[in-house]
Amino acid sequence: MTEPEKLLAASLSEERAAAEIESLAAEIARHDRAYHEQDAPEITDAEYDALRRRLALLEAAFPGLVRADSPSRRVGAPAASGFAKVTHGVPMLSLDNAFALGDFRDFSARARRFLGLGEGDLALVGEPKIDGLSVSLTYEGGRLVRAATRGDGLVGEDVTVNVRTIASVPWRLEGAAPARIEIRGEIFMSKADFLSLNAAQEAAGQRPFANPRNGAAGSLRQLDPAVTASRPLSLFAYALGEASAVPVDSHWHWLEQLRAWGFAVNPLSRQLAGTEAAVAFQAEMGERRAALPYDIDGVVYKVDSLELQRRLGSVGRAPRWAIAWKFPAERATTVLEGIDIQVGRTGALTPVARLTPVNVGGVLVRNATLHNEDEIARKDIRVGDTVVLQRAGDVIPQIVEALVERRPPDAVPFAFPERCPVCGSAAVRLEGEAVRRCNGGLTCPAQVVERLIHFASRAAFDIEGMGEKTVREFVADGLIASPADIFRLAAREGEIAAREGWGEVSAKKLMAAIDARRCIPLARFLYALGIRRVGESNARLLARHYGGFAFWRKRMEDAAAAESEAREELGAILGVGPAIAEELADFMAEPHNRATLDALAAEVEIEDAAPAAGGALSGKIVVFTGTLAGQTRAEAKVVAEALGARVTDSVSARTDYLIAGAEAGSKARKATALGVRVLSEAEWRQLAGLPPGA
Ligand code: IVH
Repeated sequence: MTEPEKLLAASLSEERAAAEIESLAAEIARHDRAYHEQDAPEITDAEYDALRRRLALLEAAFPGLVRADSPSRRVGAPAASGFAKVTHGVPMLSLDNAFALGDFRDFSARARRFLGLGEGDLALVGEPKIDGLSVSLTYEGGRLVRAATRGDGLVGEDVTVNVRTIASVPWRLEGAAPARIEIRGEIFMSKADFLSLNAAQEAAGQRPFANPRNGAAGSLRQLDPAVTASRPLSLFAYALGEASAVPVDSHWHWLEQLRAWGFAVNPLSRQLAGTEAAVAFQAEMGERRAALPYDIDGVVYKVDSLELQRRLGSVGRAPRWAIAWKFPAERATTVLEGIDIQVGRTGALTPVARLTPVNVGGVLVRNATLHNEDEIARKDIRVGDTVVLQRAGDVIPQIVEALVERRPPDAVPFAFPERCPVCGSAAVRLEGEAVRRCNGGLTCPAQVVERLIHFASRAAFDIEGMGEKTVREFVADGLIASPADIFRLAAREGEIAAREGWGEVSAKKLMAAIDARRCIPLARFLYALGIRRVGESNARLLARHYGGFAFWRKRMEDAAAAESEAREELGAILGVGPAIAEELADFMAEPHNRATLDALAAEVEIEDAAPAAGGALSGKIVVFTGTLAGQTRAEAKVVAEALGARVTDSVSARTDYLIAGAEAGSKARKATALGVRVLSEAEWRQLAGLPPGA
């Protein structure tokens, strides 16, 4: 154990560590989904890395608490639904990172030591690292037969139809090629294309992408390939996957072969004689970076000889023969012209810096997030200050610090408003919270707009045509002020048709889209309400637990009335926990929220979430442990839930079945001790109606 790990192990009880690991794992999983599946990250890469580092530290300090499904064991996110799954013949690995010269020298020394090369030079190839998304392209008889995303590294998504629309992906390899060969590369979007795509997204009332990587991922993972075709995506090829024959002996020759077949290979890639040449290349790329038409966040260095690559092999999720040497975040200085306060759906007041526009690494920046009032006070950032901005792969940059020596003499500390700038209600900050919130609830127009946007959004009511732009317009013009108003718009169809930019056809279309959503599953309904901390997965848990709207509402009202049994029940729903229980009780305690529910219940039909009645596992509590040969844990969980089971993490006397894969450890022993039925993988497959064997 390292010093920080020892310190942590000594200062934290096992119980608290377990609780923190659990909440970190859930948080990371949520951000993984936001990033990989919804292509809409909520936090910066740096913040995400900090979460992962904290988890890694905790796991190192408490090795007994490492969960089988820990995010630290995963690369990326599991394949999302909507596309067929593809199992990669050779896993798509990730890369270890170097952040400083010392890290890079360590990598090089480690590889040379491993190979017994002493001080001798190790020939490398340097390639700019574009932050896009990696794809696997399989060619049979020289023809493109399949394209897949990386997914979790083992299983990705079949995106063949979409990838065929990308001009720089050849459908046929030019010249001779092995019978079957898999080529890997990076799909990306240029900076200029990214900015114009975002401008178009905003004009259409849709959410802009956070960075070019998300723009590329969101464009590729479209169920309608026509949408992908309309997006400006490119590919640089760089790696070999599964092959019936390997036609070359070095990575450099491989890149030449790729060019000969018709692929684009990054023209800045270079052969490097050894460590010193790589160090010089890193400096050169760092200087050229801002002028490149696409974002690069570092350089990937690979051992040139394929024979040495084979000998070096890989550890965990990364090869020993390659490293990504990241650039430091791009920085620039500019003047802070003002601080605006935005009010979100839950009433949170967020300060946003308005800046004199400045170019940071090739992207023009006008705004930066300031997080919250403590952050402004801690960094003592004042309007009029010259500030240092930092962009780390994200479009919304951070303010690192104010340059005090350049502060105008009349600059005063920022007074964070104690009233909502939109509705004038008191903005209060609860003890222990960093955020100040407007308590105007639905009487606050800012919250109304944000809530209605959420209410109509894809994962909630999914009302086509009721995007951000329409909601803003309709609220501003008094057509809607609450969720139920959306369902009363039919009475105003004529008025809508007469609006500028509308007309009868569009108005009719919108009415049809609204009508199509008059019947909604309970889980979606609960999610649509926009209660703090009730995201999609908690909404599903609640729906499954309470079954129907009326019962849910009754129990929430009991909980709001501080009836301890109802609160405990709520807090005990697996995965929900006390913080969410409190949010729900608070929600129900507000008369205007109860009125919203009444009004909605009069307009829409809320379908019961029958927990797969009649399913083979209806009402059973199931725990998985060990490794299943035929399914990922995530897939097994989905199957069990579809059969009506509740899947939990730990074994207790209430557990009905423990499904034990290979190398099942303490959970299996505990289950046996408690008399819980333990099923083998074969028995599980039989019970779930899956074909035997994998
Ligand atoms: S090689 C085992 N080469 O970086 C080697 N990756 O952090 C796997 N990337 O998943 C990848 N440019 O999406 C490689 N020239 C390059 C790359 C590159 C960008 C991405 C790729 C990979 C990620 C790992």
